[in-house]
Amino acid sequence: MIKIDSDIRSELAIKGYECLSGANISISAPLLKSVASFIVSYDNLQVDSYLEKHEKAAYRFRRYGAFCLDTREMKLTETNKKIFTQSKNINTVYGGIDRKFAPATDASIKNVFLKQLILADFNCLPLTKELKEIKNWFIGFHKIRITTNSHSLTHPTPEGIHCDGHYFVVQHFISRENIIGGTSKIYDRKKKTLDQITFDQFLDSCFVDDKRVMHSVSPLKSDKNKDGFRDMLIIDFEPRCNNELN
Ligand SMILES: [Fe+2]
Repeated sequence: MIKIDSDIRSELAIKGYECLSGANISISAPLLKSVASFIVSYDNLQVDSYLEKHEKAAYRFRRYGAFCLDTREMKLTETNKKIFTQSKNINTVYGGIDRKFAPATDASIKNVFLKQLILADFNCLPLTKELKEIKNWFIGFHKIRITTNSHSLTHPTPEGIHCDGHYFVVQHFISRENIIGGTSKIYDRKKKTLDQITFDQFLDSCFVDDKRVMHSVSPLKSDKNKDGFRDMLIIDFEPRCNNELN
């Protein structure tokens, strides 16, 4: 079981975002084995070929998976959705392109920690009366590693200040090693900075109402001339899920 000990729902409703320390997220002992395998799975991501083509460098690695959530039973079912698309006005770099990332592995789809975390996150969302009536939600998850080394600066968000084009998005920090930078920032719709946080503890997180606020992450450079990386789990929440094959 995962318990999030923070009043995210009301803060998210008021401010449009809420960031919290991983210390506020407690994980019961039976899940710890799943946590360990989930963290290790970041060594098995695949290069993001879209970023590689655009930046002429391969430093973003990822896998993508998706679930439908039936809120009557709070049950997650894997969807057939394999293609990730954002509109051009949402993503100035990759918008309008149907991106097909390496799929989440079966082990990730079945990972109990991931599923429990998604359900705990969903329970923190400030749902209006209309949203509460929607019984099926689409939930996408991105496992992303940004690497860096002594001779390059790398960009977690090449699109700069942006929103993702979803309803709600939760950013969970997984780990970092030998990096400087990687500060997450939250902005209002006029790109005025509202908050910033440099994640460094497992499950340090920001919940964002993607319709109201924007976000970015500052570039990474390596610390002490060693190769480094920053691992994140990004979870997208969208009302309605039709489980269509695409
Ligand atoms: Fe984003």
